[in-house]
Amino acid sequence: MKYVFLLAAYFFSMHCAANEIDEQRAKYNYQMFCQGCHTPNGMGGESVPRINGFIGNFLTFPEGREFLVRVPGSAYSPLSNKELAEVLNWMVINFGGDSIPKDFKNYTENEIGALRLKPLNEIDNYRKELLSIIGL
Ligand code: HEC
Repeated sequence: MKYVFLLAAYFFSMHCAANEIDEQRAKYNYQMFCQGCHTPNGMGGESVPRINGFIGNFLTFPEGREFLVRVPGSAYSPLSNKELAEVLNWMVINFGGDSIPKDFKNYTENEIGALRLKPLNEIDNYRKELLSIIGL
């Protein structure tokens, strides 16, 4: 049992190192800049959508993956591209649960930089449209 745990911890740390997520910094930035609306456990609230167990659904198709970066909370955040990539990856890994697709690849700094240049202004209808593409 202990061995299995150590093995899991080893693979998890490799995964993080390879994709350069500084867990502590990501968590700190989430707490500072996102958690006020998205809540500590990502459950959201009245007008803030639930990230917990859901965010990964957007990662199953390109427009959805782009959407997570183009929403105002992400695109206009004071975080650098590198930090935003890290926080989004952290949110997916920590809150995504079963919704995360098996082939999920971390956002990269460059990808974030490009997508941020196309922020969305009208969210509600577009979000509904996107979710209807994947039958949600
Ligand atoms: C002032 C409140 C607020 C803050 C702060 C905030 N968000 Fe959001 N976020 C929202 C709301 C509301 C939505 C729903 C879409 C919309 O109306 O923008 C949302 C949607 C999202 C989504 C898409 C989830 C979905 O299911 O539609 C992501 C990803 C996201 N925010 C990331 C972040 C990140 C990363 C931060 C911190 C850097 C952040 N947000 C800070 C309010 C906030």
